Amino acid sequence: MGLFSVNKDLCNGDGICAAECPIKIIQMKENLPQPVHNAEAMCINCGHCVAVCPKAALSLKTLSPEQCLPVNKEWMLSPEQAEHFLRSRRSIRNYKNKAVDKTILEQLIHVASFAPSGHNAQPVRWQVIYEREEVKRLSGMVIDWMGYMLKEHTGIAKKMHFDLVTAGWTFGMDTVSRGAPHLILANGDKNDLSTPSACTIAMTYLELAAQPLGLGSCWNGFFNAAAISWPPLQKALGLEQNQGNFGAMMVGYPVYKYHRMPLRNAPQIKWS
Ligand SMILES: Cc1cc2nc3c(=O)[nH]c(=O)nc-3n(C[C@H](O)[C@H](O)[C@H](O)COP(=O)(O)O)c2cc1C
Repeated sequence: MGLFSVNKDLCNGDGICAAECPIKIIQMKENLPQPVHNAEAMCINCGHCVAVCPKAALSLKTLSPEQCLPVNKEWMLSPEQAEHFLRSRRSIRNYKNKAVDKTILEQLIHVASFAPSGHNAQPVRWQVIYEREEVKRLSGMVIDWMGYMLKEHTGIAKKMHFDLVTAGWTFGMDTVSRGAPHLILANGDKNDLSTPSACTIAMTYLELAAQPLGLGSCWNGFFNAAAISWPPLQKALGLEQNQGNFGAMMVGYPVYKYHRMPLRNAPQIKWS
């Protein structure tokens, strides 16, 4: 098979695959989709041509219609449900002393892997700090970094309340990872321009997907900041030379439930 094959008995020549291809590497010839010259080299494997065909007539070499789950119209959220889903998500900062099954964390990461990325590059490399003791040990390294920052860059460190966080730590209060049993990190190639946004978006998917699984989550900005700049933590994470951390998320079972959805500032919109 070339880049894709078309079942001529099923294809109705509607050209939707060609219209929807983001790279425009499908052209209609004699009412059938055909790859343009060099199409295979340019294809980003987004699967849109397979997914959009109402007749399931087109198969990519790497993806058949049978491999793609059908969209379940009954499960599509109404605008009210979508708003409720998004507005009811909360950052969780109290976690039960209970580990989450690895299979559930895998399911969570699996869903987050469907986040969009530039050119469908999917550059996120996931890392799970699974053991609670290891989360604590690595969080201690974040505290070490804060100590260094307080000494060497006092102004900015105080502005970010590192003095309070480190003081709390000495009393057993963990405002770095909040006692979460697990951390999920989104790492990637530091030299790839698509990596930072892809990691941020994938982490946002992960955070949203956690809630229906009964999980709580919270961005760990302190951990991420330390992982960017503190060599001992980078070494402990086993980050390779070209790899960086672009997001860290606490994950675990929440102690408390939220009953109301707080307000946020009215959006500031400039219409042009
Ligand atoms: C990039 C980023 C970093 C964050 N870092 C932390 C953090 O280090 N610790 C923390 O407790 N919350 C952190 N948060 C959570 C924010 O404080 C939280 O999203 C905000 O207060 C709004 O609350 P909500 O998420 O429940 O709507 C972070 C959020 C983002 C988006």
